[in-house]
Parts: sequence; C-alpha cells; structure tokens
Amino acid sequence: MPKTAIDLLKDMHGRSHGLMAGSGTSALVLALWGLGLTGKRIAIPNGVCYSVPLAVHLSGNDPVYLDIDRETLSVGVAQLKKYRTWYDAVIAVHNYGARCDIEGVAEYCAAEGLPLVEDCCVALGAKDIGHWGDASVFSFGGGKIVDAGGSGALLCDDGELEGDLRQLERCLGWRTDGQLVGSLSAMHTRLYNRWYAEDKPRLAVFGEVARGCGRDLLWRAMPMSEHGAVVDGLRGLRDSIDERWCKWENLRRRLTRFGKPFIHECGVDWRFNISIDGPPGTNKRLMHHLHSKGYKASTWHAPADLFFAERRQPGRWPVTDWVADHILNLWVDHTVDDDYIEGVSGEVKKWLDTHSNEPS
Ligand SMILES: Cc1ncc(COP(=O)(O)O)c(C=O)c1O
Repeated sequence: MPKTAIDLLKDMHGRSHGLMAGSGTSALVLALWGLGLTGKRIAIPNGVCYSVPLAVHLSGNDPVYLDIDRETLSVGVAQLKKYRTWYDAVIAVHNYGARCDIEGVAEYCAAEGLPLVEDCCVALGAKDIGHWGDASVFSFGGGKIVDAGGSGALLCDDGELEGDLRQLERCLGWRTDGQLVGSLSAMHTRLYNRWYAEDKPRLAVFGEVARGCGRDLLWRAMPMSEHGAVVDGLRGLRDSIDERWCKWENLRRRLTRFGKPFIHECGVDWRFNISIDGPPGTNKRLMHHLHSKGYKASTWHAPADLFFAERRQPGRWPVTDWVADHILNLWVDHTVDDDYIEGVSGEVKKWLDTHSNEPS
C-alpha cells in the first residue's frame, strides 16, 4: 500500500496518530476541542497570522496575546511565566519559518500541567518539530512550505484523542470553495493597508466580521483520493527546502547591507525575513514600492490583537510592535527564480539608497 499523507507526516515527525483536516485553522480548532478546551484562555504569540487568534475564537476560547521574543519570533518561557495566571493552555507557534523555543515551552507546560498545541503551519521541514505537546498542527494552504492549495493535518500520540478528533471533525462542513476564507484574507490586507499606520482601532472590525462568519470558515478534510498534492509536496520537501535556502542565501548576500536578516537556526526558509534599517514603517513604504513594480513582499505579521480588540494596552508588546514596523518578507518559493531575485533586490537597494532616512 502506498503511504498516505498522514503516514508520511507521522514518519517525519515521530508521532503515532494523526488525521487530515480541512485547513490549518480547522486543525487548530479541532486540537483545542479535542483537548476539551472551550471557554478557556489560550496563550498565543501576538505577532502571528490572524488565523491563530481566529481559531481560538472559533473554538469558543479567548486568546491571550503575549509578546514575541526577538530571536525566535515567537512566545518564549519568560512571557509564559510572567503572565502565568492569565491563561489555561498554550499554542506554541513556529512563526515565520523560525523554530520557537519549543523544548523550553513544552517543559514549562508539562511542569504546569498546561495543554500545549504546537503550530507547525509555516515551519514544515524545520528541525525537530511536530512531536511536541499534546498535538501538532500543519497547513498545506496557499503560500505554505508545501502548498497544496488548501488542507491541513493534526498529529498526536494518543489513539483516544485521534478517535475523538475524528468524531469532532464530523461536525464541520464540507469545503465547497475557498472563497469566504479568501475574501476574509483580502479584507485583512485592505484594512491593514488602509488603517494600520493611521487609525489602528479601526482594524478591530476584522474580528467582528470573522467571528460572524463562524463555522463557515472551518472545513472537513478532503477525501483521501485528493491528497495527492500533499503527498507529492512531502516527498519533495527536502529538495524544495534546499532550493528555498539557495534563494534565501542569494538575497542575504545582496541585501545584508540594508538590514538584518532574521537567521532561523534549525528553522526553515519560509520567506526571506529582514529587519529593514530606518524609521519605523520604512518596511511598509518599501513594500508598497515593490508591489508597484510587480514584486511580491509583505510586512506581516502586524500585531494580531489589533484585528480582534478595540483597545490595546500601549507598550505591552514592544517586540511584536517593533518587528511589525521593521520586517520585510520576500518570497523564496518555487514562484521566484534567479532573475526575479536579482530584480527585487536591485529594487530594494535603489529604493533604500534614496528613501531610507525619510520620516514615515
Ligand atoms: C502560524 C499559522 N497557523 C495557522 C494558519 C492557518 O492555516 P490555514 O491557512 O491552512 O487555515 C496559518 C496560516 O497562514 C499560520 O500562519
């Protein structure tokens, strides 16, 4: 019998059980439900894709946003300790392709008796991940390391939990198309572009709309016969990671003078992440310039709490805010080649040579 996507994932990560899910978001919701978490407070990094707090809300829980660590770009033990009384469970995210301090977080959660979900959605292929905590979650959606145009997965080491998750999955709808999720993502981008610099409280409308969409944003897994793209992607993972690394290295050589690349030891090159020198917001102005020239770039993740809460406590997430105002991500996936990299890095250099010291 040929191996299924779940067989391959289990083999790669040393887990004994697992199931496919409709998306990474659906997998996160299932993981929280499977662990009996509803009406609880879930600690997550603030600088993170909005899908993570969205999954927390859709599962009937509330996110507790913690500041990220500048080295790992995710939540570390210091923040977990500092806010220990504020939350009941943790989602440890390997963010931006970087590997978080998952050993430290797992040890702390075990000592405190806290449920732990490991989010590997943008770090598939990083070293020694996918087997920490109660469950590990993966995504094969657009732009992920293995992009199968959608779908997700969940691994664990507990046969009973897997059985429960299979039952819970039955209450999700079948995926008809990705339009609603796509429209929400486009709304997020528009709101960010329009209000992030000018009027942050206006971003909170996103959370209202997203919560209103509710379960329609969650799907059952596609039938096994449709997992071919995931299987192919997993089989070709090493090659695609090597290819990403070559492109990453090419960008590093060209752009290191203009900022500090985030080097993800043990991580995976999801994108080329660089903190751009210059006043806060230089990254965003540069991103718009690159878009106007037809290049792909982003400055995410903007602090996720802004999209779900009307009021913030100023200064509570200094590193998250700093990263959001400095990071630029450039693509290193199969959609870009050497000519593209030469073009985009030339454009970055040209723009920064003339604009980097202008106030934002
Ligand atoms: C860290 C993280 N977790 C979960 C998700 C959700 O995955 P999906 O898009 O498959 O729902 C994403 C999506 O980008 C993500 O970045």
